[in-house]
Amino acid sequence: MSESDRRGKVTVVGAGFYGSTTAQRLAEYDVFETVVLTDIVEGKPEGLALDLNQSRPIEGFETTVVGATTTPEGGGYQATADSDVVVITAGLPRKPGMSRMDLLDVNAKIVRGVAENIAKYSPNAVIIIVSNPLDEMTALAQRASGFPKQRVFGQAGVLDTARFTNNVATALGVAVASVQTLTLGSHGETMVPVPSACFVDGTPLADVMDADTIEELVTRTRNGGAEVVALLKTGSAYYAPSAAAARMARAVITDSGERIPVCAWVDGEYGISGVYLGVEAEVGAGGIKRVVERTLTESELSALKQAAEAVRAKQADIADL
Ligand code: LAC
Repeated sequence: MSESDRRGKVTVVGAGFYGSTTAQRLAEYDVFETVVLTDIVEGKPEGLALDLNQSRPIEGFETTVVGATTTPEGGGYQATADSDVVVITAGLPRKPGMSRMDLLDVNAKIVRGVAENIAKYSPNAVIIIVSNPLDEMTALAQRASGFPKQRVFGQAGVLDTARFTNNVATALGVAVASVQTLTLGSHGETMVPVPSACFVDGTPLADVMDADTIEELVTRTRNGGAEVVALLKTGSAYYAPSAAAARMARAVITDSGERIPVCAWVDGEYGISGVYLGVEAEVGAGGIKRVVERTLTESELSALKQAAEAVRAKQADIADL
């Protein structure tokens, strides 16, 4: 890529495994001019940025990585000023046995503070939330930033769909590239894997796999994050999550308009309104360009509506956090 093709600034808030891996992927795409990585642990983001910059001659990318220590009061945020895209990974990850919802109170405080500071320094940014519980933190960040709803969305479906695809490809012993899957709904208990939108080399999944096996893979997908948490024992997954987050940020900066499953504000689609929910949307400059509604089976639609009501109740609660 030539100098002139590189553009824009992306900030990744939080330099834990999720954030630092996201920053690495974004830098290695070599499409941004600058990747900023922040954290409240003094020196950590600066050290990781230096390390990433030193990898540039070997990996062959020119994007500059900047590290900045921030404080909850807003110190250090100058380094993030005028970001085009901001990925918020700040917050605690799950421990084995915890649900994403167990993180609600502690992460709400962190995400609210970050969103306010980001809004102050980058008033035109698109914000991508990955902190958990995802659907609730996305709604909270939108409120705290005061940004239009299309400029704040969350990472859910890209990650969950990747897990579903991997599960199907592994079970069938085929290439992941030949498998297409989809999940909608929440990034949590009410995740809605959509078998009617799943294909293997263009053939409906139901024609190449029996219903029980599909159901098993659906359950494994829904528990995909927890399965990794249980194995790691400390921290949660980050390779697939960071791949998902980076891919979403790239869609924004390149204005790709690609249709991907994300946690977006739903306003009438599927007969659902006024809630952040996992749906397919066209993503590009400015964030969500359009939520795309597809034909679902009756049971898929009813599961999606159930998910909407479950997250709606929780999103209403976060107003007080
Ligand atoms: C997961 C966490 C990051 O699904 O939500 O792995």
